[in-house]
Amino acid sequence: MRPSVRAACVLLRLFCARFSVFCSVTRSLDGKWSLSNSDGSVSLPAEVPGCVHSALQQQGYIQDPYFRFNDVSYRWIALDNWTYTTTFSVSGQLRANHKVLLVFDGVDTAASVWLNGIIVGKTDNMFRRYDFPVRDLLKDGDNVLNVSLLSPVLYASERRTAHSAYRVPPECPPHVQQGECHVNFIRKQQSSFSWDWGPSFPTVGLWKGVRLEAFDVLQLVRVSSVPLHSLSQWTVQVELLVDAVQTTNAQIALSIPELDSEQILQTQFLPGKTKNSFTLNINTSSQVKLWWPNGHGDQPSYHLTVRGFQGRDLILNTESKVYFRSVELVQEPVVGSPGLSFYFRINGKPVFLKGSNWIPAHSFQDQVTPAVLRNLLQSAVDVGMNALRVWGGGVYEQDLFYSWCDEMGIMVWQDFMFACALYPTEDDFMQTVREEVVQQVQRLKSHPSIITWSGNNENEAALATDWFNIPAAQRAAYLRDYVTLYVNNIRALVQEEDQSRPFLVSSPTNGAESEQEGWVAADPYDPHYGDTHFYSYSLDCWDWRTFPRTRFASEYGFQSWPSFSTLQPVSTLEDWSYNSNFSSHRQHHEDGNQQMLLQAALHFKLPNSTDPLKRFTDTLYITQVMQAQCVKAQTEFYRRSRSEIIEGRGRTMGALYWQLNDVWQAPSWSSIEFGGKWKMLHYFAQNFFAAVLPVGFEDGGTLFVYAVSDLSPDLELRAVVSAYSWSDLDPVCTLKSDLLPVPGGSAAIVFKQPVAALLAGCGSCTRLTCLLTFHLEDSGGQQGPTNHHFLSSPKDAQGLQRPNITATVQEGPAGYSISLRSASVAAFVWLDVGNVPGRFSSNGFLMLSRNRTVSFDAWRETSVEELSRWLSITSLRDVY
Ligand SMILES: *[C@@H]1O[C@H](CO)[C@@H](O)[C@H](O)[C@H]1NC(C)=O
Ligand SMILES: *[C@@H]1O[C@H](CO)[C@@H](O)[C@H](O)[C@H]1NC(C)=O
Ligand SMILES: *[C@@H]1O[C@H](CO)[C@@H](O)[C@H](O)[C@H]1NC(C)=O
Ligand SMILES: *[C@@H]1O[C@H](CO)[C@@H](O)[C@H](O)[C@H]1NC(C)=O
Ligand SMILES: *[C@@H]1O[C@H](CO)[C@@H](O)[C@H](O)[C@H]1NC(C)=O
Ligand SMILES: *[C@@H]1O[C@H](CO)[C@@H](O)[C@H](O)[C@H]1NC(C)=O
Ligand SMILES: *[C@@H]1O[C@H](CO)[C@@H](O)[C@H](O)[C@H]1NC(C)=O
Repeated sequence: MRPSVRAACVLLRLFCARFSVFCSVTRSLDGKWSLSNSDGSVSLPAEVPGCVHSALQQQGYIQDPYFRFNDVSYRWIALDNWTYTTTFSVSGQLRANHKVLLVFDGVDTAASVWLNGIIVGKTDNMFRRYDFPVRDLLKDGDNVLNVSLLSPVLYASERRTAHSAYRVPPECPPHVQQGECHVNFIRKQQSSFSWDWGPSFPTVGLWKGVRLEAFDVLQLVRVSSVPLHSLSQWTVQVELLVDAVQTTNAQIALSIPELDSEQILQTQFLPGKTKNSFTLNINTSSQVKLWWPNGHGDQPSYHLTVRGFQGRDLILNTESKVYFRSVELVQEPVVGSPGLSFYFRINGKPVFLKGSNWIPAHSFQDQVTPAVLRNLLQSAVDVGMNALRVWGGGVYEQDLFYSWCDEMGIMVWQDFMFACALYPTEDDFMQTVREEVVQQVQRLKSHPSIITWSGNNENEAALATDWFNIPAAQRAAYLRDYVTLYVNNIRALVQEEDQSRPFLVSSPTNGAESEQEGWVAADPYDPHYGDTHFYSYSLDCWDWRTFPRTRFASEYGFQSWPSFSTLQPVSTLEDWSYNSNFSSHRQHHEDGNQQMLLQAALHFKLPNSTDPLKRFTDTLYITQVMQAQCVKAQTEFYRRSRSEIIEGRGRTMGALYWQLNDVWQAPSWSSIEFGGKWKMLHYFAQNFFAAVLPVGFEDGGTLFVYAVSDLSPDLELRAVVSAYSWSDLDPVCTLKSDLLPVPGGSAAIVFKQPVAALLAGCGSCTRLTCLLTFHLEDSGGQQGPTNHHFLSSPKDAQGLQRPNITATVQEGPAGYSISLRSASVAAFVWLDVGNVPGRFSSNGFLMLSRNRTVSFDAWRETSVEELSRWLSITSLRDVY
């Protein structure tokens, strides 16, 4: 292997040449290693960063792990032990440094590290960075480094056995998930042992970089900067995590030139790894431009330079980005309501959080490329999302994820990685968790995108509502463990490391009220407090009365199947039916496939084609229609509830549906399929997350239209409501309300009329023959999208015909477009170009015009011929 020596202080190459004694030197050990299993029967080259599954696949030892039933076939991989080995040489110059560290940014998970036959350390936590001093072990010529990884399944089970005093449930995942047991005993991605949307692939490997770092005086391990606003003055808390060989006196210069702000301070770095904090006061005569969430303003950044001098010698020099914004979580009494408010104020402005929940983008993190991340985050902001919750059963995401969220204005609700389980609290477990928490907070706290930390996913609820049948006599012990882990340790550490943002102990939680009740509330789902998760698959999702009028909806959702083009590469002909073994195997949520059909059947005729393949693809389609319509109904309910208190409930200030993305090709709650293709739900989000949105619903036979506005200026809007016959493309009648005030950041009623009266005044319309559309307008024209309200279930609609839509694909200067012609009303019109990757400008729409043009943004080279060949158009009337 060719040594690649790189000066850490890149900007200082010239200085380094002259004063190399002050610079740290980094030698990457990434690249090709060799990998073998415990008895040596499998031996192959393996890429670092990487994991065993990826290496086996890349070398042809296994097929695509996602193909058909391979998650079960390849179970043996995680039951074996694996050793990564590399051989490298180091220069005498590197070895001449006073300190040489062997650094692992991520080891997955339980391993011992050997250098030249000597054990240098052990690891037990994939969320930690590890470094080991190795100066005296390095030698001339070949050095042999090996990392011996224990089966994570075996490790978890051994830890469970060692914890004999009492059980820490759940012991195993539900059978339908076909997963492994005791994942709560290993500090590793919790969903890697299976989840209700994902396969069991307990990964093993070196999932982040490995390198040597050598230095003589000191090394800057990390710099973080946290802007704080108080008494109308900005300061930036700058923290330098420094590893010094010996006590070093230094002069530190902090500056943000764009803000005419500079500070010079004397300091002393003590030997070893220390945290050194400094404050930069921002010049009060400078105008600080603030960072805003997507839809509320721009995301301007500034450059912070930190230099350290020892005498006249530059001993450290780093530049980082700083964004200024403040965040508060407001929990205060609400007029007319018991309980407390729960909303985020960004830069003093209450902001409604619109978005979704993020899960790992792949079972094998080494395959989450920048392009995959970018496409998902771009897909989120392009539909008007301003927030994502990084869910606690996955991983703390890579740096790039947060940098892009900063740049795109995506607010991140960051969970700590504990989910749907109770956890042990013995000393070594707590020690490794404490180190994990400190490291992750230090790594992430400079990102303005992160607006709150949250201790865990659903573990308060698991205790409160007794998911695990804890005997009453033992409850106190489990509560103690809960408070020990999340409150006395994680919360205390976070508050020590980061005073700039709120900390929530769990999600869902009653927040301040949970604290009053000893951190586990009697009912963490109480809509009068905090955030809520709500799922119901059997209740009619078109009926808004079934949804809790919560302060903040951080999880809710419905499953659907991905499209055929996504399933096809991982399945074969015999799999392509809704009742196949494959379809059951990919469904990890008990009764999930049945629930989707039952929910769909409430309003739609189910596909009944005699052609089995068409029936299968039509069924995939109808599950997406169901999901899109359900999440639309629920999201619109939350958005229109932002200003109201009804029966003591309301003032909803967040709607984060479950879930944005997928980890593999299977049915799930996601709005984006594995591979990046948008489901119908994601196209619907373009409308239901629009800044200005008309929401229509019925209450006691009266139609209400609310105008929801996330814009700052006050508006004056009217509703324009039209009735269409299912059998005619021209409206039967149109009604307009008066212009009414809609204050900035509010939801207001702009239209109200009994449906019976509306229909009586509208020709021959009945609930069965007509549907309603509506939009908002001001004196300047239409504001926001056109929405619709079905007066009956489409399955009962009279007059809906097969629309016989024809399409022409064209290529123009702006890309590809598809012109559609329809002879009649068509609902849920779905365009699909198979496996040509890309996205349409809109899809899944109600077509009430003879012509409509949709553009297609292709993510690779394609042609009019290819698109025309693959284009299929499905609408509701085409599936039965
Ligand atoms: C993996 O290592 C452990 C601990 O050394 C051992 O008990 C176990 O048998 C090994 N597994 C295999 C498949 O060799
Ligand atoms: C890893 O290194 C240790 C110590 O040199 C050795 O005992 C072990 O056999 C090595 N494992 C492999 C697979 O090379
Ligand atoms: C603040 O900025 C002004 C110029 O905008 C400069 O004259 C002044 O010295 C700065 N004050 C400090 C404390 O840096
Ligand atoms: C489905 O799985 C069952 C149980 O594994 C098996 O007996 C059956 O043959 C499979 N059916 C098909 C069509 O593959
Ligand atoms: C669509 O085509 C079918 C079959 O050719 C025909 O019966 C139907 O009337 C057509 N629909 C419309 C709206 O023209
Ligand atoms: C619809 O499109 C067709 C063919 O592109 C065109 O001839 C027709 O004029 C269009 N009709 C309207 C109302 O735009
Ligand atoms: C499918 O259902 C529709 C409506 O219920 C019915 O008219 C049609 O005959 C059915 N087709 C088949 C093949 O069963």
